[in-house]
Amino acid sequence: MASGKIMIIDDEESMCQFLSIMLRKEGFDVQTYTSGRVALEKLQADSFDLVITDIHMPEMDGLEVLSGVKESDPTTPVVILTAYASLETAIEAVNRGAFHYLTKQAKNEEIKMVVKKALEHRRLRKENRFLKKQLRIQHETKKMIGKSPMMNEVFDLVARAAPTDSTMLIHGESGTGKELIAKEIHYASKRADGPFVSINCGALPETLLESELFGHVRGSFTGAVKDKEGLFAVACGGTFFLDEVGDCSPAIQVKLLRVLQEREIIPVGGTRPIDVDVRVVAATNADLELGIEEGRFRADLYYRLNVIPLTLPPLRNRKDDIPLLVDHFLKSLSANGERKLTPDALELLTQYDWPGNVRELENIVERMVILNEKDVLEGDDVPPRIRNFGNEPVTVEDQDLGSMSLQDLEKQHLIRILNDVGWQKRKASSILGINTSTLYRKLQRYGLEQ
Ligand SMILES: Nc1ncnc2c1ncn2[C@@H]1O[C@H](COP(=O)(O)OP(=O)(O)OP(=O)(O)O)[C@@H](O)[C@H]1O
Ligand SMILES: [Mg+2]
Repeated sequence: MASGKIMIIDDEESMCQFLSIMLRKEGFDVQTYTSGRVALEKLQADSFDLVITDIHMPEMDGLEVLSGVKESDPTTPVVILTAYASLETAIEAVNRGAFHYLTKQAKNEEIKMVVKKALEHRRLRKENRFLKKQLRIQHETKKMIGKSPMMNEVFDLVARAAPTDSTMLIHGESGTGKELIAKEIHYASKRADGPFVSINCGALPETLLESELFGHVRGSFTGAVKDKEGLFAVACGGTFFLDEVGDCSPAIQVKLLRVLQEREIIPVGGTRPIDVDVRVVAATNADLELGIEEGRFRADLYYRLNVIPLTLPPLRNRKDDIPLLVDHFLKSLSANGERKLTPDALELLTQYDWPGNVRELENIVERMVILNEKDVLEGDDVPPRIRNFGNEPVTVEDQDLGSMSLQDLEKQHLIRILNDVGWQKRKASSILGINTSTLYRKLQRYGLEQ
């Protein structure tokens, strides 16, 4: 049985009865009103999934009812009932936001179908709202973290630029948070309630990317069996994140330029342009200026994208953010109870140069948490690759031994043995044939304490 709460408004009692009997049989919960005014009062206190209203009524007409319903809840669909004579007014109502109209001569099947479609529409709108809210909540728990002067500059720029509708180009190495900051820009903009749509321009072959971005009309190529809406249309009212924009082919670059200049798209195989209302935020980890010099990237597109440039600094240049980030990831990873790092362990994470930036740090912290059950993670729990960073021994074979001092040689040998035994001092001293206090003295002398 179908479910849904339907309000019927018609000054003719018989019409109300006819509709309510038919729709109740379908399983709907139906309430009827012969006055638009009374019905709108009811809507103040109660919510309905669908309103069906006559257009010609003495006291308050259908168009007024329509605007009243939209005022109290814009997601409630309204179906207009009309006699043939007032078809024009019914069309006017649809233009003003009614879901559909039905003539009073409509067959029962047609009425039921329109009702079901309207309710499905309402359900999808509600679901959509719910999902958007979820996304927003999810995003709020995934905030961009940082307190270094470099990140503070980024945050300042985002605060100033987000509310404008200007196109932005984010530049940064892999894992520096380009997508995260793009979302932050979206949620801090006037478009926060609209969609955030993202696509990686480097991940799809050209023809597929083109139809994903701009859509296509049926029959425009083999396999295009239906019209397809492009992501630019899906992103209407929101923000479109073009990731790895430097990977776009010359043909796509021309089309993107058109979007930014004319604010319209032409679907693949189509002839008529469609207006698009999106804010574009693009990102790249490539040097687009070099791309221009080498003829791979259009200069005009670059200038259209680069209205507000934003650069995310690599993690190695803002090491003061590392403790904060580690803390943040530890908190989000440990569901029950707090996990901590000893100062030694933190120090090891800080001296590493993080070529994969924040993503790499996040992965390492996650790995340490998963592989160790203790509450306090120590230096030994830091993966060896990171623990030994900067201490990689130079193999003596490769060196011109003649140019090495005895001290250099001793230092290299110490590092090599210590690396082999995972920096366990007792083991190392027994291999080296010295006692542990001598080993500690040597480590101190060479600045190798860990
Ligand atoms: N400052 C930050 N604070 C908290 N988390 C961050 C920060 N920067 C990045 N992250 C996290 O690091 C991961 C990588 O971020 P993101 O995907 O935004 O990077 P990216 O620059 O788009 O990388 P790529 O170029 O590889 O696509 C994500 O899980 C993100 O949540
Ligand atoms: Mg990315």
